[in-house]
Amino acid sequence: MNAIELARAIPKAELHIHIEGSLEPELIFALAQRNGVALAYPGVEALRAAYAFTDLQSFLDLYYAGASVLRQPQDFHDMAWAYFLRAQADHVIHAELFFDPQTHTARGVPMAVLIEGLSSACLRAAQELGISSALILCFLRHLSEADAFATLDAALPYREHFIGVGLDSSELGHPPQKFERVFARCRALGLQVVAHAGEEGPPEYMWQAIDLLKVQRIDHGVAALQDPLLMAELAHTRLPLTVCPLSNLKLCVVKDLREHPLKTMLDAGLCVTINSDDPAYFGGYLNANFEQTVAALDLTREDVLQLARNSFEASFIGAEHRAACLARVREVASV
Ligand code: HPA
Ligand code: ZN
Repeated sequence: MNAIELARAIPKAELHIHIEGSLEPELIFALAQRNGVALAYPGVEALRAAYAFTDLQSFLDLYYAGASVLRQPQDFHDMAWAYFLRAQADHVIHAELFFDPQTHTARGVPMAVLIEGLSSACLRAAQELGISSALILCFLRHLSEADAFATLDAALPYREHFIGVGLDSSELGHPPQKFERVFARCRALGLQVVAHAGEEGPPEYMWQAIDLLKVQRIDHGVAALQDPLLMAELAHTRLPLTVCPLSNLKLCVVKDLREHPLKTMLDAGLCVTINSDDPAYFGGYLNANFEQTVAALDLTREDVLQLARNSFEASFIGAEHRAACLARVREVASV
């Protein structure tokens, strides 16, 4: 097996996937029809043609519009199930899914509806596909601290259905500091904590995520390259970064995949992982991200193996499950 074949076949964990970002245009239109929701585009082709983004915000506008078709538990279930089928084809054996409750509750969809639909799909993925999974509730950072607190309160009756919290949406102008008190409360509740930082924002936002939010992983984090002290800190602590190469390309964070910093980060000893972010919008699921990154950066078999190992090291699974996953990685790598 060469590096690309190994990348395809190796068992992996996906740790940075917004489940609303897995909503394919075909499913958006099917759900719009099922729920009687009007869309601003005449059809699938026209919608897909609009996926030409210039930055994060230009994507988020379409992403939130797409999510407006989700109304019933079955809609959330169908969306997550479609993702799990794609994940299985890419040899994902564990997935930690972000969801954005505020996008839905603001439209009048109750918290119970989305959590019921998503968690039933997670249970089914374990039973029918052998994929373990967990949900991470993300706060939308363009909204207020008070809105985040209210969202946390609304979710707490369903505490057993999610393992942690994250921070996503428009990064610039909304530093992690804004959510310091919300995250302190989440940590006190025993939730795992992660945050998007250093996607479009500066290294300073990554420092804030580490020092103020006390995150256990950083989502994206490609801005670390601009700060040698931060690179040294990340190499020392091995605080994981969930990097999303095709997302960075489509949102113009990098001009060309050959200029992506992932290989430099890996060589510096950082615990980087590859993820798909919003695969329906960015042109590919996890294996597409692996294949194109391996090709563009000339990654070796050893790099691929390290990325797979990192994905389990960075995941929120127990020691026993992690050991079993790593054994499966070794098994595939040795053929
Ligand atoms: N960045 C910030 N917010 C998001 C993203 C992203 O890549 N995807 C979905 N919400
Ligand atoms: Zn993301």
